[in-house]
Amino acid sequence: MSKIEIDEFSGTQTTGHDWGGIKELDTPMPRWWLWTFAICIVWAFAYVLAYPAIPLITSNTKGFLGFSSRGELAKTMTQVKAEQQKFVTKINELSLEEIRADKELAEFAYAGGKSAFAVNCSQCHGSGASGSPGYPNLNDDNWLWGGSLKDIHTTISNGIRFEQNDDTRISVMPAFGRDEILDRKQIVQVAHFVLSLTKKEHDGDSAKAGAAIYAENCSACHGDKGQGDREQGAPQIGNALWLYGNDMEAIVRQITNPKHGVMPAWAGRLDNATIKQLTIYVHALGGGE
Ligand code: HEC
Ligand code: HEC
Repeated sequence: MSKIEIDEFSGTQTTGHDWGGIKELDTPMPRWWLWTFAICIVWAFAYVLAYPAIPLITSNTKGFLGFSSRGELAKTMTQVKAEQQKFVTKINELSLEEIRADKELAEFAYAGGKSAFAVNCSQCHGSGASGSPGYPNLNDDNWLWGGSLKDIHTTISNGIRFEQNDDTRISVMPAFGRDEILDRKQIVQVAHFVLSLTKKEHDGDSAKAGAAIYAENCSACHGDKGQGDREQGAPQIGNALWLYGNDMEAIVRQITNPKHGVMPAWAGRLDNATIKQLTIYVHALGGGE
């Protein structure tokens, strides 16, 4: 028999359960809670109808709004690509000077060049283009082959001593020792002269004898004062920057049996716009002329 009644203390209805005089109150849920609950249910139904929600066997319900996050991403990507394509088209059409004069375009080219450099060049030139023995630092204003936009563009496009490219930059320092053009004593003497050019410690008498050997054998490429010659990619050797090392041993080694550094050509491997962007980037590194 149900004994639902009104509890005389709280004024609330009981459940009718009675355990030896202990009764259970049937306090109703608060109104605000019930409303929130109802609204949540309505919201959930509306959401399921509006958005992709229920998984089916091969796909899912699409929702009447037609929204998909993949679709949103694709839309943004298309926008970004179109935006980028505008820049790339401009880079293809304009000259390097014109690109550099256009601030926005130059910034785009610099960023593009920087990432292309990280992928294609940093394994040899270092991640900050700071070089290592045999691989020139591209941040300084000391250039083997020239630091103008045009020079840099030619170097990157055609490479250096890269035989597969017909327009590659070529110059070959003779192997004075290996080919017996100079004997060991003469090589050491001319090396002392090279050290004297850089004001490093050297033997005065040897350097004097070396000066004559230098004038005859070396100055045609390295210049009478060691100033170098960009036409032949012959490094300046009177300064503090060295490709292969500035001690006696490294200099003697280079004169005896020179290394002929090879830099690959990028024309054909990278597209036109990328090579131009690399040129802008390398030129902007600090040493561009
Ligand atoms: C396989 C190693 C290698 C890779 C990869 C390489 N380089 Fe070089 N690069 C060299 C060497 C070696 C030289 C110096 C050649 C010489 O002795 O004249 C050089 C020289 C240069 C020079 C001329 C510097 C000057 O003083 O005139 C530029 C500019 C240059 N590289 C840019 C690049 C760019 C940009 C890339 C990427 C697209 C790149 N290099 C990739 C090895 C490399
Ligand atoms: C045909 C031109 C040519 C002649 C002649 C020549 N050199 Fe060179 N020399 C070069 C080139 C090019 C390089 C750079 C090699 C490379 O990039 O791999 C070089 C590099 C060097 C270097 C290394 C410089 C550095 O920064 O590490 C030294 C030192 C040097 N030469 C000394 C001499 C001396 C001494 C003679 C004469 C006995 C001589 N060269 C004759 C073209 C020449």
